[in-house]
Amino acid sequence: MRVDIVTLLPGVFDKIFDESVLGSAIRNGLIEIVVHQLREYGDGRHRTVDDTPFGGGPGMVLKPAPLVACLRDVRRLGSSAPVIGLTPQGLPLDQTLVKELAGFERIILVCGRYEGFDERIVHEFDLQLSIGDYVLTGGEIAAMAVVDAVSRMIPGTVGSHESVEQDSFYEGLLDHPQYTRPAAWEGLKVPKVLQDGNHAHIEKFRHCRSLLTTAVSRPDVFAAANLSEKDREALQSLLLSEQKN
Ligand code: ADE
Repeated sequence: MRVDIVTLLPGVFDKIFDESVLGSAIRNGLIEIVVHQLREYGDGRHRTVDDTPFGGGPGMVLKPAPLVACLRDVRRLGSSAPVIGLTPQGLPLDQTLVKELAGFERIILVCGRYEGFDERIVHEFDLQLSIGDYVLTGGEIAAMAVVDAVSRMIPGTVGSHESVEQDSFYEGLLDHPQYTRPAAWEGLKVPKVLQDGNHAHIEKFRHCRSLLTTAVSRPDVFAAANLSEKDREALQSLLLSEQKN
């Protein structure tokens, strides 16, 4: 997969794309990242890319012409990749969208800065995405989040694809809690079922915990999950057994 990123701060991507899981995915050719400096398309001697907002107000707005010129060049480099603007006004990013984006051979991410994009270029975007209901100083951290989450969906990026399939949200539920050695620590014990080696029991226990964590921590996600009759029964028996303990 190829990801093009349009930004005024290309340098901030160096470290994140050089190290860890993403770094090895890039070195192994599973993902290619091409960063484009928007300022190269700025106006005049100073390569100006922003201006004050019409109607007044604080901050600066990204001018339409440099961004459109840059996008035309980036698109010219190939295919009909979706162009995604990163902005707090966008659609909230979730795991379903992440999986969809991972299905493209190429995506183009555009990072906003200042007070955002001039509204007249918004039609250039196939999609506007937000990574949460808070305002960042720019789209760069949002772009990193998109690239990180999407690249995990590409087989081979994360050590075992099984671990991706067991992620929070993968099946519309939060992940179950995890434990590692020691089995007892400061008086807190790892549930016995996880130590007995019975995989059917472990799977059932984890699924129940997943249901419970989701119901308690994220009732919105739980309400949207496609639960089977078996799931409901499992949750009910878990709640009953918790009540008894
Ligand atoms: N740019 C500024 N804030 C953002 C957010 N929450 N999501 C995506 N891009 C942004």
